This record gives sequence, structure tokens and C-alpha cells, in this order.
Amino acid sequence: MPYLKPERPEKVSAPSLRSSKQRGERLVCLTAYDYPTARILDEAGIDIILVGDSLGNVVLGYGNTVPVTLDEILIHLKAVRRAVQRALLVADMPYGSFHTGDDDAVRNALRLVKEGGAEAIKLEGGHKRVPLVKRLVDEEISVMGHIGLTPQSINQLGAYRVQGKTPKAAQQLIDDAKAMEDAGAFAVVLEVVPREIAKMITESISIPTIGIGAGVHCDIQVLVLHDMLGLGFGKQARFVRPYANLREVMTDAVTRYADDVRNGTYPSEAESYALPAETAAELEIETPSRDSKAEKS
Ligand code: KIV
Repeated sequence: MPYLKPERPEKVSAPSLRSSKQRGERLVCLTAYDYPTARILDEAGIDIILVGDSLGNVVLGYGNTVPVTLDEILIHLKAVRRAVQRALLVADMPYGSFHTGDDDAVRNALRLVKEGGAEAIKLEGGHKRVPLVKRLVDEEISVMGHIGLTPQSINQLGAYRVQGKTPKAAQQLIDDAKAMEDAGAFAVVLEVVPREIAKMITESISIPTIGIGAGVHCDIQVLVLHDMLGLGFGKQARFVRPYANLREVMTDAVTRYADDVRNGTYPSEAESYALPAETAAELEIETPSRDSKAEKS
């Protein structure tokens, strides 16, 4: 089926994603962690904004996602919530927030929805998360699954590697995706899996697949914003296309600012305020005549 570009300005919702898949639309997802970037993304028409636990890698400097807490996600989610109008806003359940029993997980997911304003939550893991996904859906919480490379498992995995490369592992991925659909998830992230397997999964389930490093056949693509904007420090994965080099842009800007301060050319008169002439006269301060009117702002 040929893919169509979505032209609709309507609010994106979890249920609307399934219809978008049926219509063959390619939707777009990016992460955001603060008000200005979330606002730029929403105004640019990004369909899904994810407050991901990649926060730990790209904003908080933890090096991986394991230490990220629910409270940290909440702080960033609230800022993003204030910016987003059209996109579907999804929040990640961080490591530890859904591992101590389903009641705790529901309580934590409800905090993301009620306090943080998330319209859906995402959690990592395949078949073993099925009972929890069912329970969350029963509690009216929309759930996005996440299978393939699950970065919260880094201490068990040892390294970030392509998943699903053997026949057994590929079959497990296909089964996990189906299990997520059957459990009531409205979409499933496929992270760093071979494109052939992502294609098979995308064609075999009715909920959309959201690919990151999973090839072109996924219904939706997602990238970590800082990676695609060139705001990272490590080596980028092969699936990250660098759309900008903001690190270079920022380094150039702050270096020029520092130079201007050090050589006395910043701030100029136009970038500062003159004393009103009357005040200057009373204080017997000499001012150049052209500064006789004080700026109001
Ligand atoms: O945390 C995150 O940003 C994610 C995406 C990469 C899917 O899980």
C-alpha cells in the first residue's frame, strides 16, 4: 500500500494511531524533555512526543537509563505537557517503576497521567509484561510496548546490540509484538532489530510499530532528539541521521559571546540602558546628549 503524508491538523490520540496505520500514513515521533523543544516539535507537526528515559543519557548525564527515577520523568513531563497541544504525549515508565508489583506500577503510571499529563505510558519488555499491560489497560491507561533492544536491561545485556538475529530470537520478537497487541497495547516500539523482522511484525499486527534502528517498514519512526540534532557526546548508532550539529552551533555562539565579553565589545550602548537626563543632572553625572531619553525596556 502506498504511504500517505498526514495532512490532518487534529489532535493525535492513542486510538487514532490504529486508523493512521490502516490509512497507510507514516507518522513521526521524537523525544522531548523541556518546554522550548517540546513546543518546537509540536508546532512542527511531530505526531507523537515521548518523554523518554533517554533523559538519563542525553540530559541528566547518567550514561544510561537505569538510574532515571519517576520523579525525574515527572519534572520533565510537566514542562513538556505545558508546551504540547496537538501531539500525543507519551511518558516512559523508568526502570524500577513497574518492577515491584502491578499495584505499584498502576500507581506510578497514574502519577504520570494525573500529575504529569501524559496521555499514554510506555514500558519495556515483551511477553513477561503481558499481565501488567492488561491491568494498565483495564485501568484506562493507554500503553505503548517496547521490545527488541530494551536499554533498561543493559546490566543483563552487557552491551547495546542488534536483537532478534537468530531464528529463535526473531520468533520471540514476533511473539512478543503479538502478545503486546493481544494485551491491549496501542503501539509497540521496535528498537534495533533487523529490518526484515520489523517488516514481518509490522505486517502481522494491527497496531502500529514504532521503529528506532528497525528499518523503513515500521509504521512510525522515532529518534532521540539530541542524537538527531547533534547534541550528543558519544559515538552515534548507525541509525541516527544527523539533521543538525547543534553542539557546533552552540559552541560557536558561546565562544563568540565569551570573546566579546573579554574584549569589551559586549554589551554595547544599544544593549544597555541610559540614565534619564534629569536624574543624571541631579546626580551631577555627565551623559552624552544623545542618551537624554531613558529607554523604557
Ligand atoms: O527513552 C527513549 O527515548 C526511548 C525511545 C528511544 C524509544 O525509549
